[in-house]
Amino acid sequence: MELPVIDSINFAGEKVLVRVDFNVPIENGSVTDATRIKEALPTLQKVLATNGSLILLSHLGRPQGKRDIKYSLAPVAKELASILQTPVKMASDVIGSEVKAMALALKPKEVLLLENLRFYEAEENPEKDPSFAKQLAELGTFYINDAFGAAHRAHASTADIVQYFPKKRCAGLLMEKEVTILTKIFQNPDRPFYALIGGAKVGSKMGVLYALLEKADALFIGGAMAFTFFKAQEKNVGASLVDYEHIHTAKKILDKALEKKNPIYLPIDIVTENHGTIETNKDFPIDAKGVDIGEKTIEKWQNLMQGAKTVFWNGPMGIFEVSPFEKGTFAMAKAISSLSATTVIGGGDSAYAAEKSGLSKKFTHVSTGGGAALEFIEFGSLTAIDFLKK
Ligand code: 3PG
Repeated sequence: MELPVIDSINFAGEKVLVRVDFNVPIENGSVTDATRIKEALPTLQKVLATNGSLILLSHLGRPQGKRDIKYSLAPVAKELASILQTPVKMASDVIGSEVKAMALALKPKEVLLLENLRFYEAEENPEKDPSFAKQLAELGTFYINDAFGAAHRAHASTADIVQYFPKKRCAGLLMEKEVTILTKIFQNPDRPFYALIGGAKVGSKMGVLYALLEKADALFIGGAMAFTFFKAQEKNVGASLVDYEHIHTAKKILDKALEKKNPIYLPIDIVTENHGTIETNKDFPIDAKGVDIGEKTIEKWQNLMQGAKTVFWNGPMGIFEVSPFEKGTFAMAKAISSLSATTVIGGGDSAYAAEKSGLSKKFTHVSTGGGAALEFIEFGSLTAIDFLKK
């Protein structure tokens, strides 16, 4: 089955449960980055414009199945009300008689945000209490999943709930946009297609690196994960961060790249915290810790990427939160965003870095999903999307 989409659905009289990903950063009771809220607006406005009422479901952080006020969605309700320019009612719970009464009383064009789904263990582990998904479903008459960022999770609100809406369900406009762009990269990218991968979490990115090796014309690997690859080449990296558990996988990826004759480019110079810039073909002092890619690498990679028709980027090139080690990440963001190509950022830290460098608007697409975008590139679909299609 095709992904059911909003298209020309009229939501008049419907109480529309929309699973959104409002897992946004909050400091001192205020939302500090509202990107995910803003990206959900087209779907929310579409429901309101056709006289539906909205019951919004989201998680925030990882409260481990317990009520913890630190993870309350109340600040999100405030932010959403100001962005939507509409009052947003906030439920103090997720299920139960009070919430049910609030949902029942909701009039067309009214908005209700439920409390953090993850205050219940059954959200992340639906098998522990199958009635949780059912109780959520009973609050509405139509289900939309617009939470691309959480679409790799088989949770009560993204998977189990779907069975209660055999006909009245669809993907939201954000979900549809993400799926369209990432499917193009997965199935039929304009070539040459290059992927730039960085960040520190080597283990969680090995699958996507394998997948990209099959699809991309070249891989550029920067950030802390480059040191695990240098180790796999039996190079000394001083005191730099190495994921020892994954050196063996890194070696397999390098071997596979050789076999496929698809190049993997590793940095040729590295900025260290305490020894200036070091060329990677020379020896690393034992206490030198790599924190960014060097200028020669930036120049070389910029040149190699000229002519690209598609570029996918995930993961920073260094510790970009600490000045001056943002230079490599920002320079690559500038280089990629200036290309005449489809340029896509796969969420997470790189999306934040692009925002921080003021360049995010110059990319074709900045995904709202970190883990979700990577899993989509790896597998070509996501659990929640498969449930909607069933
Ligand atoms: C994210 O921020 O990547 C999504 O909201 C999913 O959150 P999770 O990794 O805690 O499931």
